[in-house]
Amino acid sequence: MTGKKLLRALKGDAVWPPPVWLMRQAGRYLPEFRALRAQADFITRCMTPDIATEVTLQPIRRYAMDGAILFSDILILPWAMGQSLEFKENLGPILEPIHTRADLDRLQPERVREATAPVMETLRRLRRTLDAPDDPGILGAAKPGETTLIGFAGSPFTVACYMVEGGGSKEFASVRHMAYAEPDLFGRLIDLLTRTTADMLCDQIENGAEAVMLFDSWAGILPPAQFDRHVIAPTRRIVDEIRRRHPDVPIIGFPRLGGVLVGRYAEETGINAMALDTTADLAIVRGLVPDTVTLQGNLDPLCLVAGGTPLVDAVKAVRDAMKGRAHVFNLGHGVLPQTSPEHVRLLVDTLRDVSAEPAP
Ligand code: CP3
Repeated sequence: MTGKKLLRALKGDAVWPPPVWLMRQAGRYLPEFRALRAQADFITRCMTPDIATEVTLQPIRRYAMDGAILFSDILILPWAMGQSLEFKENLGPILEPIHTRADLDRLQPERVREATAPVMETLRRLRRTLDAPDDPGILGAAKPGETTLIGFAGSPFTVACYMVEGGGSKEFASVRHMAYAEPDLFGRLIDLLTRTTADMLCDQIENGAEAVMLFDSWAGILPPAQFDRHVIAPTRRIVDEIRRRHPDVPIIGFPRLGGVLVGRYAEETGINAMALDTTADLAIVRGLVPDTVTLQGNLDPLCLVAGGTPLVDAVKAVRDAMKGRAHVFNLGHGVLPQTSPEHVRLLVDTLRDVSAEPAP
């Protein structure tokens, strides 16, 4: 079968060796990223197509990753609706928190399309560059027509976590409290995010994204009944809407720290692929998830920081545990800033060198 390897794997092919990309593959561990970082603050970098395109391409050039993920952030959606957002050095994101119905009513979903126009321009440029560059040299180690462009959004629950809490948190206690104490208000927020996220992902697809991923980084803090209501149900609605408009575009879900609930997530949301966090036991998950759902993951980012023989062994262990099954190699969470770029090279080289291994 021909076509881009990552796209084939996301559609259910057991491609061998598996295609690879890494969450946060464009980041502070790359010197060329740090050089650009000095030029503008984070939101400006996301909203400037020249910068966002260049940063997205940096890991492609170096490692010929099979996927290029748009450089942006899950909090661009609330920002686009008018919620104030700032990224402070070492503090992470800071937002004006949503506490009341009046706070919610101040959001302006009708602004999203215009506010995200630069992101759509970035996607159009990326797709053109990846598939048919004017100068093939711009892709470095990658070849034209081989890299899949990935768009993304946060899942409604995870984005709501930051919107209600006003930033990051260990426990997101005020969010979980709101979900119980003010189910109507919280439900309205989830509903608003469900609709705007589906529309924004469709826009991303219409501007060049070939696959989309929903990051649900905090899905794992909910008990099962709340997981059904605030994770599975909204994800199902987003998947249905994207499918209706773009039936062939694969959707990756990432119910981080979902534990055994990832089995029901895979079956009930309708996603094509599920990203697994570092804690997922691959042999167990293989049994929980129908093999029509591609699995993505799940090397520990700290193992990548460590490098050496433990890294080589762990890369082979993850790859070989998924042999014969549709799999996309990735980490269980994002690349950490202290990672050596040489370790990323070792990961990619080890993964792709299957000359000594028998075919599955
Ligand atoms: O994977 C990629 O490289 C694509 C771009 C991307 C970013 N954030 C860039 C970013 C993606 C897919 C995200 C997702 C995201 N953003 C998530 C879900 C995944 C996860 O990590 O759990 C979450 C929860 C956020 C919210 C967010 N953005 C936080 C908590 C922070 C601060 C902490 C940190 O890691 O720096 C950000 C900032 C952010 N998003 C940066 C980048 C490159 C760092 C900003 C900088 O370089 O100054």
